[in-house]
Amino acid sequence: GAPAKIDVSKVEPGAMVTAEWRGKPVYVARRTEDMLNTLEGLAGRLKDPENANKAQQPEYADNVYRSRKPELIVLLGVCTHLGCAPKYVPEVEPQPFDPNWQGGWFCPCHGSRFDLSGRVYGGSPASDNLVVPAYMFESDNVVVVG
Ligand code: FES
Repeated sequence: GAPAKIDVSKVEPGAMVTAEWRGKPVYVARRTEDMLNTLEGLAGRLKDPENANKAQQPEYADNVYRSRKPELIVLLGVCTHLGCAPKYVPEVEPQPFDPNWQGGWFCPCHGSRFDLSGRVYGGSPASDNLVVPAYMFESDNVVVVG
């Protein structure tokens, strides 16, 4: 399949856009400083906080941000449980269905929860973090996936 080019210039801080690549949704979210600040403290509550499963991200995304640039994250919008599209929940405030959750992605199919780096929370049916596909920046505002 052809690579997907995604213009991220209009993605406001805190917002996410969905594109498509090889028939799958690709999510690109621009995280705020507050969002990025939630990531370090979550390790004890995640199944794979250190990206031990190397299949889930390229080497350049093997960091706490799971991205090339801290603010922009690129993920496949495919739940690692049974493939539903997780819903973006950007609020860093506690969520009604999990008061300790600090936002990220919620899968409506069976309730898996992921943080704002796509890392899976303990207690979720999914075992693996969301996949970061191979991507590069063609320019400051154009991400090429694939
Ligand atoms: Fe996402 Fe089952 S497919 S929790």
